[in-house]
Amino acid sequence: MRIYKQILAITLAIFIVLVGNSSALAADTANGAKIFTVNCAACHPNGGNIIRWGKGLKKRALRWNKMDSIEAISSLVAKGKNNMSAFQDRLTQEEINDVAVYVLQQADQGWR
Ligand code: HEC
Repeated sequence: MRIYKQILAITLAIFIVLVGNSSALAADTANGAKIFTVNCAACHPNGGNIIRWGKGLKKRALRWNKMDSIEAISSLVAKGKNNMSAFQDRLTQEEINDVAVYVLQQADQGWR
């Protein structure tokens, strides 16, 4: 009988870990979307770029400009570049990371 209790406990533990992780992931994406709407969408509506055509956030542009990684996007967002302002004083590293993940995810889905 004891062995059943142990199996039950282990199964429960695995379940909690899995559910816990997936909800954390969902929260990050939702947070990234919110950060994007507030800080980025004015210049990058629907993954475009109203200031510099060719520097948009669509998959092809990101790949072409070697911006198709979380590290590259986070670094650009933190430090800024030319007409894009730096966000390191306005967003935390975690928020920058969340928005980078969101940009890549949207690029994968074609910004629909
Ligand atoms: C004031 C307008 C403006 C805002 C606000 C802005 N950007 Fe940009 N963004 C630009 C411009 C201009 C460039 C092109 C920079 C360059 O390479 O000269 C750019 C480039 C980028 C690129 C690289 C795209 C490529 O194809 O090379 C990424 C990624 C990006 N922005 C993400 C963001 C994110 C995420 C935010 C919000 C945290 C944001 N931007 C806010 C204007 C803006």
